[in-house]
Amino acid sequence: MNQLSVGVAITGSGSATPKVTLDNEGLSKIVETSDEWITSRTGIKTRCLASPTESVPDMGAAAAREAIAMARITPAELDLIILATSTADDLFGSASLLQAQLGASKAVAFDLTAACSGFIFGLVTGAQFIGTGTYRNILLVSADILSRWVDWSDRSTCVLFGDGAGAVVMQAHGEDRLLGFELKSDGSQNECLQLAYQSEPKELISGVAVARGTYQPITMNGKEVYRFAVQRVPEVLSKALFRANIPTDEVDWLLLHQANQRILDAVAQRLQIPDHKVLGNLANYGNTSAASIPIALDEAVRSGRIKSGDVIAASGFGAGLTWGAAVFQWGR
Ligand code: ACO
Repeated sequence: MNQLSVGVAITGSGSATPKVTLDNEGLSKIVETSDEWITSRTGIKTRCLASPTESVPDMGAAAAREAIAMARITPAELDLIILATSTADDLFGSASLLQAQLGASKAVAFDLTAACSGFIFGLVTGAQFIGTGTYRNILLVSADILSRWVDWSDRSTCVLFGDGAGAVVMQAHGEDRLLGFELKSDGSQNECLQLAYQSEPKELISGVAVARGTYQPITMNGKEVYRFAVQRVPEVLSKALFRANIPTDEVDWLLLHQANQRILDAVAQRLQIPDHKVLGNLANYGNTSAASIPIALDEAVRSGRIKSGDVIAASGFGAGLTWGAAVFQWGR
């Protein structure tokens, strides 16, 4: 795939989720819903929720330490840290704080915002820096605390989301393990899924007004997002597989953004990938936004399901709208 000079390998993974959980039973005490409705429509049973004092850099750093240890490097060896998040503690960015927590003194760090596509967009962005020979060791952290921005009185959205962080280490490698990718966005459908700023005008002096608004909780047209996902995700995965020159039956694992079990099933069916190759952990975490793909990846690596050399077809999709796919081989 890589026409640049240096290949990339993904050599370490890690994940971290808050200790506090809220199951469907608990949710039914907050809004009019039931375990039966949530389980049958989404596959979600419980989700982890960050405490009021937990931060995106805290969770990200916990996941990052695991990934760095698995890659057998030290934080001081990192050249770049990409933090994929839509829920930074600071609108100026949270990546530098994460860098400081890790003691990654040599690394430059920045945030990348692409909602639930953040991990895939971050992976491809990191690969460009390695491909050009600019950097050799990159940490990609995906972390989101969507619970801060959920409308806890809206039963159509609050049942879906959870908090968490996942991380991978990407390293320069003789053979390129990123075999193919495709990234897409379509702002014309932006209103389908938003965590939008709502402006309130404040006049400073006569004729000079500024905005003094705030961010509004998540709004979503669930049916439109569902339709978008089951159509666009198979398309983008097929394109990435074509670029990788990998036939679908050579895919070892389908690793999708964990939004809804019905979306996972529909995409797998359309691509004719059997259930036993589909990685999923929705029941335990719900939709953790940018973090969902690396959390599922890390669990599968640590449990021994994913082995070195396995071909993984991964796809993220969500607000923006954004969507993308990456086909890669795990390990060195
Ligand atoms: N409990 C009980 N009833 C509910 C709940 C709930 N939690 N939520 C909605 N309902 C009701 C509705 O009010 C509606 O009732 P009505 O028929 O009396 O009007 C009925 O259930 C059906 O509602 P629908 O919205 O039609 O349910 P649907 O089958 O479409 O499922 C869902 C909704 C689960 C949200 C689905 O549309 C979906 O998963 N969409 C994709 C969402 C998604 O993945 N978003 C994240 C993208 S990633 C990112 O970037 C954040």
